[in-house]
Amino acid sequence: MNIILLGPPGAGKGTQARHLVETRNMVQLSTGDMLREAKDSGTEMGNMVADVMARGDLVTDEIVIGLIREKLEDTTDHGGFIFDGFPRTLAQATALGELLEATGKPLDHVIQLGVDDEALVTRISGRSTCGNCGEVYHDVTKPQPADGKCEKCGASNFKRRADDNEESLRNRLMEYYKKTSPLLGYYYAHNMLTRVDGLADIKEVQDSIAKVLDA
Ligand code: AP5
Ligand code: ZN
Repeated sequence: MNIILLGPPGAGKGTQARHLVETRNMVQLSTGDMLREAKDSGTEMGNMVADVMARGDLVTDEIVIGLIREKLEDTTDHGGFIFDGFPRTLAQATALGELLEATGKPLDHVIQLGVDDEALVTRISGRSTCGNCGEVYHDVTKPQPADGKCEKCGASNFKRRADDNEESLRNRLMEYYKKTSPLLGYYYAHNMLTRVDGLADIKEVQDSIAKVLDA
């Protein structure tokens, strides 16, 4: 099964994707994670996108489509792909449709994580991530364990993202409304869109997504 998780910054795409990886043997394809990896390892492309990401602007379609194309060639046995943070423009959505068709992989569901802007600010400003395994925490809703060790991998290496500040978040939201939100209409018209309440707590959102996937 191949699915897209669609929603603004902080909607919970990464949190839900990680749960699906753990419970359904699915593969998470997060263009944000791929770009951050390229930036951290100092590749030419990584250096090129660093400022764009820090500002909260979108990286070019050409770069992100190229990243996804490479990953889709992965043919090993797994429970399907979760597209997290991709597609983000109509050009990316069209390219994804073509790539999936060419590799004979269907797109089964597009799940919209519905949230409101106020919640996003709170979520983003409280977020930290394990620098070792990528587990996502939140100062209030999912605090780091009291012993200072990641609950998933035991490392003590928590990070905050360079683009998790108010100015960049405002810009990321603007990009979302201008360029990504039209995808809701696009996938609705293709009869693929299901909205779940992303404001519910993490476990409830997991259950809502499971209902869609198991229907
Ligand atoms: P990306 O990494 O994709 O970031 P984003 O879309 O801004 O999304 P986030 O990772 O911020 O949020 P999320 O929805 O995953 O929320 P999370 O689960 O962490 O992109 C970063 C940048 O890369 C872009 O700005 C752009 O420059 C570039 N880029 C990436 N893809 C691109 C593309 N396709 N095209 C062009 N450019 C691209 O949750 C947030 C917090 O809330 C956490 O602390 C979590 O613990 C908490 N939380 C989660 N769910 C709940 C819940 N239900 N209740 C309470 N708290 C919750
Ligand atoms: Zn960890």
